[in-house]
Amino acid sequence: MIDFSVKRFKTLDSTNTYLKSLAEKGEKEGTVIVADAQEKGRGRRGKSFFSPADTGLYMSFLLRPKLPPEEALFITTATAVAVARAIESVTKKRALIKWVNDVYLDERKVAGILTESAFSADSKSLDYVVVGIGVNINTKNFPDEIKDIATSLGESDVRDDLLQNILLEFSHLYSHFPSHSFFEEYKSRSLLIGKEIEIVDDGRCGVVYGINDDCHLLVRLNSGEKISLSSGEVSTRLKKQ
Ligand code: BTN
Repeated sequence: MIDFSVKRFKTLDSTNTYLKSLAEKGEKEGTVIVADAQEKGRGRRGKSFFSPADTGLYMSFLLRPKLPPEEALFITTATAVAVARAIESVTKKRALIKWVNDVYLDERKVAGILTESAFSADSKSLDYVVVGIGVNINTKNFPDEIKDIATSLGESDVRDDLLQNILLEFSHLYSHFPSHSFFEEYKSRSLLIGKEIEIVDDGRCGVVYGINDDCHLLVRLNSGEKISLSSGEVSTRLKKQ
């Protein structure tokens, strides 16, 4: 099990940015950074993550896995399962995962994960992985760009429970690596399987029929062609039913 040690801050620019700077200076595995607010919370694909004070959980933890670089994707997906389980234990509502690593409640995004890793060329393994998690707990006044797709747990005083639950659930899943025993659960929580989606990058539409063991999204396009999408390459959106 990982020996987690939590350090708390009032405000940081980004818990990921801060923990990466510690990691570069040799910080040990298990350090967890939590901030009440982030001034420059970051999301995937260069987006920002709305992080107003005292309304969300903004956290990052540090791993130093002796694993090949391609495992970073599975650390991300294991985290998504851990976050979904933790949210479910607080809300008693089913939490789903939108490929690759957004967690959804009631068809709206409630949490996001940003994994950033460094590779050690000498050992051909990951040097460190910083896993950043943002959960909207009782967030109000979402910015216009996300107000129709974001939601929050609508609970108060659950931040510490959520933090502890996420770390515990992740520890269990991570202890089985490099086995991906959690992956069946990851797929069973998929928001997209069976749904019609649009590939944001090129506008093509189709129906998702699965996720393979490499975590590629399997899509039957409206043209009839079957394709597999890799997470680094594309983003998708659900088509309105
Ligand atoms: C996404 O939605 O694309 C990922 C969002 C990740 C947000 C979290 S909040 C804590 C950590 N610090 C950051 O700057 N980002 C992550």
